Amino acid sequence: MAKILTGIQSSGTPHLGNILGAILPTMNLIEQEKDPAFLFIADLHSLTSNKDPEIKTGFTYEIAASWLAFGLDTHSNIFYRQSKIPEVCELKWYLECFTPYPMLVNAHSFKDKSNNLSNVNSGLFTYPVLMAADILLYDGEIVPVGKDQKQHLEITRDIAKSFNSYYKTKAFIIPEVKIDKKVMTIPGIDGRKMSKSYNNTINIFLPEKTLKKQIMSIKTDSIPVEEPKDPNKCIVFNIYDNIAPRAKSIELRQKYIKGGYGYGDAKKKLLSIILELFSKERTLYNKIIVNKTYIENVLKVGEEKAREVASKKLKAIRKILY
Ligand code: ADP
Ligand code: TRP
Repeated sequence: MAKILTGIQSSGTPHLGNILGAILPTMNLIEQEKDPAFLFIADLHSLTSNKDPEIKTGFTYEIAASWLAFGLDTHSNIFYRQSKIPEVCELKWYLECFTPYPMLVNAHSFKDKSNNLSNVNSGLFTYPVLMAADILLYDGEIVPVGKDQKQHLEITRDIAKSFNSYYKTKAFIIPEVKIDKKVMTIPGIDGRKMSKSYNNTINIFLPEKTLKKQIMSIKTDSIPVEEPKDPNKCIVFNIYDNIAPRAKSIELRQKYIKGGYGYGDAKKKLLSIILELFSKERTLYNKIIVNKTYIENVLKVGEEKAREVASKKLKAIRKILY
């Protein structure tokens, strides 16, 4: 039995990449475990990029509604907002004192972000330590994330080992990263990684007409309808291949190779499979997102449970330190 823990930043509307790369793999793992999983909305992390309270709260609700639409059982799991458990910030400070400065300077995500931003705040720099605190505070054992988070997990493990070895203790459990090999990085409508920060996402919860518009705007080349096409070079096929059942995917691949089949038709196929596969989740999401009181209540229950675990753990850590 292992404790599963993961978080998603409230930095934008959840997209197909978040769903295939994080939400669905986590839901599959949770189903196999009896212990409650810890799932949270990383609204402290998102402050590094978004400072507007109203917008941030809106994103928090959207992320919560997505988990709920995908069937998260909030009675047997612990679902909460990171910011509601302030213990995480105290633990972050302790952990910072065990984090070598060069380890943070060399983190890929910090390098990427700081190279692309004109205003680099220190929160971006210490971002991985807050992530370590998120995991170690609740004794997270298995952390399902997308490929891009692998290094952050390595940092968490190093910090925990360094603390444990200094105090000759087993206070912190050393977590394992879990990356779903089946799910590749989902491309966005422009071909780069689908990401909230690139404005290139597909939002499966949108009304059909708007969703269609997003899908129709996926970038394709200008090979004419009648000519054969390479499915491996096409964003539409790549996304379809990641969600459709194998037989359907093979069928579409053959249509590309044979020729006489246009990208417009492939886009319509992608739209219809999204509508078909996520029909239940679309309906549920749209019911939940308008009921903020329900979302608040669900999160409050989770926050009470999370706080109990966190304060116990922090007390044990303080005992070691003082
Ligand atoms: P974004 O890049 O949109 O801001 P986040 O950093 O909030 O996404 O990622 C939340 C989770 O979703 C992480 O586990 C991340 O690895 C996963 N994820 C994000 N984008 C993709 C993608 N395009 N394909 C697969 N997984 C993704
Ligand atoms: N950094 C993660 C992301 O951008 C979100 C996150 C914050 C997280 N704390 C975490 C993920 C702890 C797993 C465990 O996707």
